[in-house]
Amino acid sequence: MNRGSREIAEAVAALRRGEVIGLPTETVYGLAGDASNATAVRRIFELKGRPLEHPLIVHLADAATLGAWALDIPRAARALAERFWPGPMTLILKRARRVSDLVTGGQDTVGIRVPSHPVARAVLTQFGGGLAAPSANRFGRISPTRRAHVLSEFGNSVPIVLDGGDCAIGIESTIVDLSGEHARILRPGALGAHELERVIGRVAHGRHGHHGAPRAPGTLAAHYAPRTPVQLVAHAALVARQHAAKKRGERIATMSVGKLPPGAEGIAMPRSPGPYARFLYASLRDLDAQGYERILIERPPNTFVWTAVRDRLERAAAGSGVDPEDGT
Ligand code: TXA
Ligand code: MG
Repeated sequence: MNRGSREIAEAVAALRRGEVIGLPTETVYGLAGDASNATAVRRIFELKGRPLEHPLIVHLADAATLGAWALDIPRAARALAERFWPGPMTLILKRARRVSDLVTGGQDTVGIRVPSHPVARAVLTQFGGGLAAPSANRFGRISPTRRAHVLSEFGNSVPIVLDGGDCAIGIESTIVDLSGEHARILRPGALGAHELERVIGRVAHGRHGHHGAPRAPGTLAAHYAPRTPVQLVAHAALVARQHAAKKRGERIATMSVGKLPPGAEGIAMPRSPGPYARFLYASLRDLDAQGYERILIERPPNTFVWTAVRDRLERAAAGSGVDPEDGT
């Protein structure tokens, strides 16, 4: 057995014992445990510090076992699964009875995803069952996109963190709710509305609209947040803001779309949304670790292709500046 396959076999054995592991996926790293084992699922909540009513996504090796986890699967779900799985898409469906309240947060729906990352696929295939896996960060913080991020979140409390390199997509999956009458995007992701619409026709956006819309805390206003205060700034205002901060003697970092303005410290982000998303969380972590008083982030263009990135930046700004270590 080579090193990679031995590590995967060990991870699968740990999952069978009800332990929780760090698992790379193409979107972000997950904190994975056996979705059918209440002890494992409780441990995930405990490690993340996540409130119990916030549901987890169940990850499967393929769509073949979907019927064991969801009921009344609509044709649109089958069509999306066929087209986009394995990949960065989570479907919200009516849950089958076997799915525990712990996983669904007591709701009558369940989130299901088939990831495409080869390590995640190997683990899921060998494990055989469903893996509950939220992003491997403490509740409300920045999602991890490389192994070192997971280690820095959980240290020794999660001894097995498989290495899958840097996540190719870098932001969490697109969540599509198909449990109601109309398809609805609950969380935007790299897979955009237009691509979904090409397969199933009109897709609504946002959490509101249909009665009893499921809760999705990934959609809380404050999420994915650095400790350093983050401010979103229009391109036109960036230079002036920076000057004003300098004048006040403030140490600020800038995250620009494309080149940094002259004299600015910080990170020049890619000009297109895919590469930008890939570097986003690692860049936020980087800047957050450098002790700046503030991070100024240039607002990406207000166009459709930037929807998911804009969503994460707005949440990062809304939830930033609170240090959980002070118990606030
Ligand atoms: O890309 C991803 O989806 C990553 C990787 C690890 O797969 N996972 C992830 O999990 O982002 P988490 O727990 O950080 O975010 C899952 C989101 C939450 O906002 C949760 O509320 C929502 O999915 N969710 C899960 N089950 C749901 C349900 N039954 N109804 C509505 N939202 C649900
Ligand atoms: Mg998360």
